[in-house]
Amino acid sequence: MRIGFLTSGGDCQALNATMRGIAKTLYAQDKDVEIIGFKNGYKGLINGDYVKMKPSDFHNIIRQGGTILGSSRCPFKRMRVIEEDGVDKVKAMKKTYKDLKLDALAILGGNGSVKSANMLAQEGLNVVALPKTIDNDTWGTDYTFGFNSSVEVATKYLDDIRTTAESHSRIFVVEVMGHRVGHITLEAGLAAGCEVILIPEIPYDIKYVIDKIKQREKEGRHFTILAVAEGAISMDDAKLSKKKYKAKVAAREGRSVVEEIAKEIQEALPDKEIRTSVIGHAQRGGMPCAYDRSISTLFGIEAARLILLKNFGRLVVLKGQEVTSIPLADSAGKLDYVDPEGRAVTSAKLMGVTFGTKD
Ligand code: F6P
Repeated sequence: MRIGFLTSGGDCQALNATMRGIAKTLYAQDKDVEIIGFKNGYKGLINGDYVKMKPSDFHNIIRQGGTILGSSRCPFKRMRVIEEDGVDKVKAMKKTYKDLKLDALAILGGNGSVKSANMLAQEGLNVVALPKTIDNDTWGTDYTFGFNSSVEVATKYLDDIRTTAESHSRIFVVEVMGHRVGHITLEAGLAAGCEVILIPEIPYDIKYVIDKIKQREKEGRHFTILAVAEGAISMDDAKLSKKKYKAKVAAREGRSVVEEIAKEIQEALPDKEIRTSVIGHAQRGGMPCAYDRSISTLFGIEAARLILLKNFGRLVVLKGQEVTSIPLADSAGKLDYVDPEGRAVTSAKLMGVTFGTKD
């Protein structure tokens, strides 16, 4: 049996642990299995850029961050577009698969990669996908590996900011990763005890953020830390058309929404010292935490089981306590957002956390 592996999209901490889980199970169950590792995601499959893997390649990588295969972004919407190089990407991927006489492909990727994996399955390739992303926003699974590791990084960062914020009685507006969803910001914000959490799913009014800071000042708490998702959006901006909002973001010239929020707070509270801070890609870096290592191993074993059973076109998922799988087509093209009316948000509000809204 010959199986191709690829890791696609933004990396995360437990990609290697997952591949190890698949590989060790396949090697244990089929002595003749051969694993082909495609370099840098779909690009490797398109260009026929690969390495023949050995069992020893998977030794000692359970704790190793990043991906031993490399990764890249290869947007789904460009997959069928012929670029200047004249390459028909879908045709090229099918050719590589056929030329190498692959029996199946294991694709580790986030939402865009799941869409591409589904497209390849529809094109007739045997595909099993595994949900990777720090954002925890892949539809159909309760968990995407990498999420907890990134929450650990973000929480530690917010904790560290807290001591200096308190010493200097400052307000810190901290950017957490998540353009479209606020899972990391919500979880790390709660874990670090932040009383202001701003996420894309709940447009904010700066007035309520300022009210919260003033309330804390009155209570003798002269510092405030705002956990702000990259994609946090004001109520006014949320009313703009997609095109106008895009133009507004472009006009920021790379500066983050946290700068805008800091400026507005400074105008309202001229005596306070405000600082901004961006956690950035460290949230995707370093070692996977213990939970990510164990769940990724179970995800990997499930992918191997699907391959051995020749049950293709599936996405490995966590449902409650159980690692299982769903049809790829069920997940492709959908995102799992934070529910603004969900238990986590409504409970946090009960405790006094503000999301920049009236209630
Ligand atoms: O992979 C997910 C993610 O880390 C998002 O949280 C973030 O918005 C984005 O990727 C950053 O992408 P890039 O690495 O391309 O800057």
